[in-house]
Amino acid sequence: MSDLLLMGPGPSPVSERVRAAMSRPLYGHLDPRFLRELDGISEDLRLCFGSTAPLTFPVSGTGSAAMETAVLNLVWPGRRVLVLENGVFAERISEMARRAGGELRRLSFPYGTPVDPEQARQAMEEFRPDVVAVVHAETSTGVLNPVGAVAQAARDVSARLIVDTVTSLGGMPVTMDEWGAAVVYSGSQKCLGCPPGLGPISVAGAALAERPKDLPVVSWYLDLGLIAKYLGTERLYHHTAPISMVFALREALTAVREEGLERRFARHRQASSALRAGLAAYGLGSLVRPGSELPSLSVVSAPEDQDEGRLRQELLEVEDVEIAGGLGPWKGKAWRIGTMGEGANLDPVVRTLESIGRVLGRHGVAADVREARRAAEEQWRAVSPALRA
Ligand SMILES: Cc1ncc(COP(=O)(O)O)c(C=O)c1O
Repeated sequence: MSDLLLMGPGPSPVSERVRAAMSRPLYGHLDPRFLRELDGISEDLRLCFGSTAPLTFPVSGTGSAAMETAVLNLVWPGRRVLVLENGVFAERISEMARRAGGELRRLSFPYGTPVDPEQARQAMEEFRPDVVAVVHAETSTGVLNPVGAVAQAARDVSARLIVDTVTSLGGMPVTMDEWGAAVVYSGSQKCLGCPPGLGPISVAGAALAERPKDLPVVSWYLDLGLIAKYLGTERLYHHTAPISMVFALREALTAVREEGLERRFARHRQASSALRAGLAAYGLGSLVRPGSELPSLSVVSAPEDQDEGRLRQELLEVEDVEIAGGLGPWKGKAWRIGTMGEGANLDPVVRTLESIGRVLGRHGVAADVREARRAAEEQWRAVSPALRA
């Protein structure tokens, strides 16, 4: 197990320093020393989110809990919600908005293509939503969505914007203030290099003001108004914070800050382009519209005429490398390979390529491992000056 390399769509590999932080002796959740650490997390998260919102913190739960926090606090019966869908995570937002009693409109785009901001704008002008939701980096398809253009359209119709940055935060620029977004959320287990269990979120000051006083948030646990009383100057107990997870996130964010965001983004770009160059040498091409690929996740065609699930199982059991298959219409047809956090480096990319090459070879698929490695290293060397510095 110790040599297992996590190159799926999350969780990503976790460094020794982050794992060590999880075994620190505990503080109580109202201990001023612990609260200072939470404040430090808030500051570091604001940097990653490109946000100045005071209410920025890790939700006690995974990315879906942060997603549900965003939806349940902004959506109530009768609120008009437009969800821009091009994969299963946007579909999950729609399901949550439906359960919250929102009047839901879904604008769907084919898997592998980004949201079209012009069509999104038309839908907004026609439907006049109170809330618009979009996924920045759609993990089910590997597509980067044009959040900047969507945000402009949402501002033009005065809609509140929710952005899912689960697979982008810490791996590429996220600019909440610039977008004018109401709520942006993420997960700890992807580009931040932390285990799963926390859902970073940033909430703009005005985001919660429109809720009618007689309609409390249906979830007590995820009610931002109540949680804010614990995080703010009142320090009122709401629920027991998951202390060890918070320590892990604190350490992971310290590592992000030490590396510097620009450098980290460059490293993610280089790792994903190196990986894709190597996979192309095996004939495994990207399924994403060119120009919309993610720096954190590559979605490529699975080897033809093969039981791709069996190949992945062998990759895991024999080679100790985890990758994932396709979702929805791409089940059985796609491979999803992450380059997130610690996984966004040349060594894990090369090890993944070599392991895939060996598995393919054992199944009679021609795979030139040396060529894949050469192509990946060449891409990696074409690094940006930021990374060489
Ligand atoms: C884009 C996106 N949103 C939401 C989620 C849900 O996060 P979690 O599985 O941590 O609950 C994921 C998980 O992979 C995701 O990729």
